[in-house]
Amino acid sequence: TNSNALARAAGKLYFGTATDNSELSDSAYVAILNDNTYFGQLTPANSMKWDATEPQQGTFLFSGGDQIVAQAKAHNQLMRGHNCVWYNQLPSWVSGGHFTAAQLTSIIQNHCGTLVGHYKGQICESDTVGMLSMVRRRSRSKLQIPIASHPEPEPFNDDGTWRSDVFFTTLGTSYVDIALKAARAADPSAKLYINDYNIEQTGAKATAMLNLVKDLKSRSIPIDGVGLQCHFIVGQVPTSLQSIIQQFTALGLEVALTELDIRMTLPATSALLNQQETDYKNVIAACKAVSGCVGVTIWDYTDKYSWVPSTFGGQGEACPWDANLQKKPAYSGITAAWA
Ligand code: G3I
Repeated sequence: TNSNALARAAGKLYFGTATDNSELSDSAYVAILNDNTYFGQLTPANSMKWDATEPQQGTFLFSGGDQIVAQAKAHNQLMRGHNCVWYNQLPSWVSGGHFTAAQLTSIIQNHCGTLVGHYKGQICESDTVGMLSMVRRRSRSKLQIPIASHPEPEPFNDDGTWRSDVFFTTLGTSYVDIALKAARAADPSAKLYINDYNIEQTGAKATAMLNLVKDLKSRSIPIDGVGLQCHFIVGQVPTSLQSIIQQFTALGLEVALTELDIRMTLPATSALLNQQETDYKNVIAACKAVSGCVGVTIWDYTDKYSWVPSTFGGQGEACPWDANLQKKPAYSGITAAWA
């Protein structure tokens, strides 16, 4: 039995993968992507980001995102939206703009509202802040194109202080409220997430995120979930991962593991590939063990299209399928854990 089928049998909503528009012309890649026994959910790696969707102020382009949504819909896969507000991949009119607080508030409201509204009913969860993603979830029996909307803004630095991006600099922490409220208004049934990295282990950054979501809830700002990105290194999966998942779900939030990959220093050896199998198994097991962890998304399923080698020199092989689209031991770790 394959990875998504096993995740569903374990009571989860999905085991999914990121994909990107440029990859959809690769027919061998797409054949595996379309198999919903492997993947029950897709996240667009780039085409719903601000630079892609509102390159000029007020000019919205949804063709790239729409293509991924159509792909998911055709194969009965859920969608996670990614993302509404993030410091990265901003068009220069946003990142270089000099706006008053009132102007930027209205810009965020218009961007999040239009983006989430365009995909209303089609997204199960959305990254709304840091990265804001949006995800919308329909009842399971209906067509699922959940686009998770998480506001995925990666709002924090690793020491738990706020990232000094254009949003924080102009609006302070209120930009998170503004984005979440706009996303909720545009699609009341999308699950709204804040999505960040390096919050998968106990420490200042995880504490900052716990405090942020507690504060949002105490003020009745709409927030449904936290995305733990899970960009890990072989042999260094945090042992506190399950405890962190439990700390977020104890607040009444759902958790999704949104961008899982586990990279290694190349060349790959059988020892590293076997450790990677164990690592993937441990990550999936941590999600499986906590009922509020709703699903796991890998940050593309194959090394052929991983973001890792171009970002971390000398590292790679982070995905469960190799560059020739063959399964690696990591895939067995995933299925063993779900089973
Ligand atoms: O679209 C341009 C293209 O026109 C140009 O010719 C080409 C030349 O480099 O670049 C293309 O843009 C690239 C874009 O991906 C689309 O392929 C950017 O350079 C490249 O930086 C960008 O990388 C993306 C990265 O986010 C940017 O931050 C990765 O694909 C994407 O996987 C990655 O995803 C992020 C999540 O959104 C948030 N969490 C971390 C994760 C990994 O960085």
